[in-house]
Amino acid sequence: MEVAVGSARGSRVGPPEFGSGATAPPLYTVRSSRPIMPWKYTDEYYRKYTRSTWNSVAKAYSGFTERLEPARLELVRRLRPERGERILDLACGPGEPAISIAGSVGETGEVLGVDLAKEMVSLARSTARAQGVDNVRFRVMDCERLRIPAATYDAAVSAYGFQIFTNPEKAAREVLRILKPGGRMSVCIWGTGARVPYLHAIVGPMLAHAEPDETGYLPTPYELGGKGEMVRFLREAGFRSASETRVAHQYRFRDPEEYLAVVLGGTPIGHSLSEEEPKIQEEVLAATRANLLRASTAGGIRLSGESVFVTARK
Ligand SMILES: C[S@@+](CC[C@H](N)C(=O)[O-])C[C@H]1O[C@@H](n2cnc3c(N)ncnc32)[C@H](O)[C@@H]1O
Repeated sequence: MEVAVGSARGSRVGPPEFGSGATAPPLYTVRSSRPIMPWKYTDEYYRKYTRSTWNSVAKAYSGFTERLEPARLELVRRLRPERGERILDLACGPGEPAISIAGSVGETGEVLGVDLAKEMVSLARSTARAQGVDNVRFRVMDCERLRIPAATYDAAVSAYGFQIFTNPEKAAREVLRILKPGGRMSVCIWGTGARVPYLHAIVGPMLAHAEPDETGYLPTPYELGGKGEMVRFLREAGFRSASETRVAHQYRFRDPEEYLAVVLGGTPIGHSLSEEEPKIQEEVLAATRANLLRASTAGGIRLSGESVFVTARK
């Protein structure tokens, strides 16, 4: 299985079938009898896959993204948006944190949200319209190729985008290019699996069946989430004053069914699992339910999820 909520680091030479968008590949491809996939992902393959799966879950993503609100508030607090500023939201999904930030920059400021998936952008536009927010715009754009002039933004923000980007190095260099001198960057991504039971309750069982490609690479939702990893990554890309803080938030679900509906139905993880053989799906679901049972309390299921908050300057 592949988990598309992780990024494809490095160059890949991928399986030839994917490209039309008609059938997206699984997030993790299970080949239990073979330990290593005999191919590598190409960047293009992975990008199409990312676009296709996030487009297909865009409407159902609401249950997942609303639970990220406390973490996004933390992210925006660290960004410190000011009135009159121009701010770019990378991988804005259905509109946040772009729409909230638009309130802080006021009428003289402006926010642009960009996302690879046009369904996400279309949801973001309708939400902004419904809320009467008119200093925010949304565009379908790849964060690795920003169609934005150099040195035009005061700050950039990204909530749970960098771990997914096909080539996060390119995205970081693009942010550096479009920021004004001294411009700020505020990013959050997931910590590593053991610190994110919220996702690992299901991703763990999926990884147990997963296999790396021939380079030994296995994408996960925890890319760049290791201690100091994102800070090093941004420094190497050319940012200065990079520092990180880790905060664990609690994620609550009524019961396992609600968890599965939100995480499987509302993210590309569900797509991945649905592509697998029935026997493997059953095994993954059984192991997930066992994990959820261990997280059951009198008030329902409670799972912790650590986010890594990183700020830096151009
Ligand atoms: C986990 S969602 C985060 C959305 C939103 N920021 C939130 O907090 O809910 C990740 C988003 O990244 C987008 N994405 C992935 N790769 C991208 C890229 N190269 N350029 C722009 N957006 C990308 C996906 O389409 C998806 O909407």
